[in-house]
Amino acid sequence: MILSPSLLSADFARLGDELAALERAGIRWLHLDVMDGCFVPNITFGPPLLRSLRASSRLFFDVHLMIEQPARHLEAFRAAGADMIVIHLEADRHPQRTLTEIRRLGCKAGIALNPGTDIAPLRWLAPDCDMVLVMSVNPGFSGQKFLPQSYAKVRAVRELLDAANGESVLVQVDGGACPENAAALADAGADVLVSGSAFFGHPPYDARHAAFLEAVRHAGSAAGENRRALAAQWTPCNR
Ligand code: DX5
Ligand code: ZN
Repeated sequence: MILSPSLLSADFARLGDELAALERAGIRWLHLDVMDGCFVPNITFGPPLLRSLRASSRLFFDVHLMIEQPARHLEAFRAAGADMIVIHLEADRHPQRTLTEIRRLGCKAGIALNPGTDIAPLRWLAPDCDMVLVMSVNPGFSGQKFLPQSYAKVRAVRELLDAANGESVLVQVDGGACPENAAALADAGADVLVSGSAFFGHPPYDARHAAFLEAVRHAGSAAGENRRALAAQWTPCNR
């Protein structure tokens, strides 16, 4: 399992130190929640913050765009240092085109689904994406309660991807993930867990990272291990 801590729960007054501490804890991915106050009720940050962090970090920047019409901003996020750009299916009328454009820019491409969104369109998007993000809370805030119907949804997404020649597409789960539900999520098919409050709220980070990994030690499948071995070769592309 890959753990992608969500920057939203870090100490914004000392972000450089926080990122350095993540790297020392063996973390490889960083989840960056971009919110526009329109697609979701909250507003967070944009390309300038990414650019500042990119200058001193070797983490893989997993950028979750919770913004309307994300296609307008792809180049800005790419230039600022995004390695993966994840758009919301609900926020884009032409998600297939946008995913293709993300890849053309040299980034990995992801598609996110809100808890109430059906997974059927993934059948047609699977060839053009590297990751599916299953929201296990409604997007907008960290610290919300995990929605238990997400287990079945993750399982259904994994099955759909496997049936649509998308065996190498990762499944990420975002919202309310913690060591207590990590094994069940890995068994359902999650490859990447995002964690905000359950990670940053429990320092030191090396011990917390180890707790997540220990929780999933006996979970998941061989196919999942192969998928994550491929993803381990993804490196930050903007250095
Ligand atoms: C929610 C964000 C999440 C959030 C996760 O809209 O997309 O990434 O920060 O935080 P926790 O793990 O606290 O639910
Ligand atoms: Zn997120």
